[in-house]
Amino acid sequence: VKENNVLFVIFGGSGDLAHRKLYPALFQLYLKGFLNEHFAVIGTARRPWTHDFFRQGVLENLDEGTNEQQQEFAGHFYYQSHDVKDSDHYVALKKVIDQLDEKYQLNGNRLFYMAMAPALFGTIAQHLKSENLLSNEGYNRLIIEKPFGHDYPSALALNQAIVDTFDRNQVFRIDHYLGKEMVQNIPYLRFGNPFLTSVWNKDYIDNVQITLAESLGVEERAGYYETAGALRDMVQNHIMQIIAMLTFPKPEQYTDDEINQAKSKVFASLPVYSETDVAEKFVRGQYDENADGSQKAYRHEDKIDPKSNVETFVAGEIDLNLPEWQGIPFYVRTGKRLAAKNTCIDIVFKSDVANLFSDQKLENPVLTIEVQPESGVLLTVNGKKIGTSNVVETHQLTDLLDDDQQKQVPDAYERLLLEAILGKQGNFAQWEGMAGSWHFVDAIRDAWAKDSQPDFPNYQSGTMGPKAADALLAKTGRHWIYQG
Ligand code: BG6
Repeated sequence: VKENNVLFVIFGGSGDLAHRKLYPALFQLYLKGFLNEHFAVIGTARRPWTHDFFRQGVLENLDEGTNEQQQEFAGHFYYQSHDVKDSDHYVALKKVIDQLDEKYQLNGNRLFYMAMAPALFGTIAQHLKSENLLSNEGYNRLIIEKPFGHDYPSALALNQAIVDTFDRNQVFRIDHYLGKEMVQNIPYLRFGNPFLTSVWNKDYIDNVQITLAESLGVEERAGYYETAGALRDMVQNHIMQIIAMLTFPKPEQYTDDEINQAKSKVFASLPVYSETDVAEKFVRGQYDENADGSQKAYRHEDKIDPKSNVETFVAGEIDLNLPEWQGIPFYVRTGKRLAAKNTCIDIVFKSDVANLFSDQKLENPVLTIEVQPESGVLLTVNGKKIGTSNVVETHQLTDLLDDDQQKQVPDAYERLLLEAILGKQGNFAQWEGMAGSWHFVDAIRDAWAKDSQPDFPNYQSGTMGPKAADALLAKTGRHWIYQG
């Protein structure tokens, strides 16, 4: 493992994301040697904290390594009180940056992480340039978190504000689902096995199902969630990225550039649905209390509008305009307060190709990619029932990670931060993809907006969502493979 010399400047360094995700992820990179002597982290936020107080907060979120390692690591953290709208504050920040660059010999390598409200991304990016916080030697990179806009126009404006200062290869847009082991595994399955590569198309696949089920409710994020809803929160980004991973045309070479180009073809092929399409192909829902009343209905959650029409569940059918996938529905589903926390992908193969056992029903073979909480691959196939009778039954080939393997899986943030340090763009969202995805999502939102009185709440907490989500598949004789 080679050490990387780098300075992190984290805007929003006092926040929840930084403490829960970023600092522990950096610590993992430290324990593994990707960060060692020559790195520093500056956390900025408005509050007047001391370095010590900041370090204390960092330490509280580390639960591995020895006490000595933790102390060493936290010693590389510095706090700078900062108002992102005040130019003078950037001058002060630059001083600290320059000092640390020299002290730790960082060679001018800088990663600016925007862990705060997107409305400020543009302001920060502009100031970084105008106040000379970008180095002339080494690299300057920007990492951005979602939400990246709330519709196409706002995302476009946000993007413009950023690319005015940073080149596209300097901008790293995090979608943490792209950092999950089994999502990264998809191309390896598709292209590492000729027997799968050859059936990975409309001739052999009947439909594809993607489920991102959560058992938690809205938690403490009412403010954000009331402006977002499940469609923006999960479909526009995570689900779309998974679809792209499942369908991108085979690149000539497995390089970051070629992967991203191939993925952008998928995003460009997303349909823009008419109102009629939306009514037929998309279902929204909002959770009611659970069976015993111990979990509240969404409308009764803290800080939620008691008349809120925000959806906490979406299910829909996405038809890609790609020749390889013509006519193959991609069924997607996500929601809060569902029966279980489970992310899985079911590739449902056709069953009716030359059925030799014509008097018996063959089930659809299914390749299931379990993303979380379990990780691995399951293959459900038809076979013979043991015994003297000639009866067909389904068998499951299972390859799930065991506990030891699971422990080796890096957290999504750890992996993505390392890739940003290494300048690898392959697992980051690109603007073209976001644009296509927003167009798709905007059409659905526009159609929904015309019906301002949805029949909410329409599913009980602890179930797999509204009945209409099952009907969506049932009308063509299909069903959800994952039943909760
Ligand atoms: C986030 C959403 O992007 O993903 C949250 O904003 C959601 O609402 C979360 O809970 C789910 O992530 P994970 O990694 O727990 O599946």
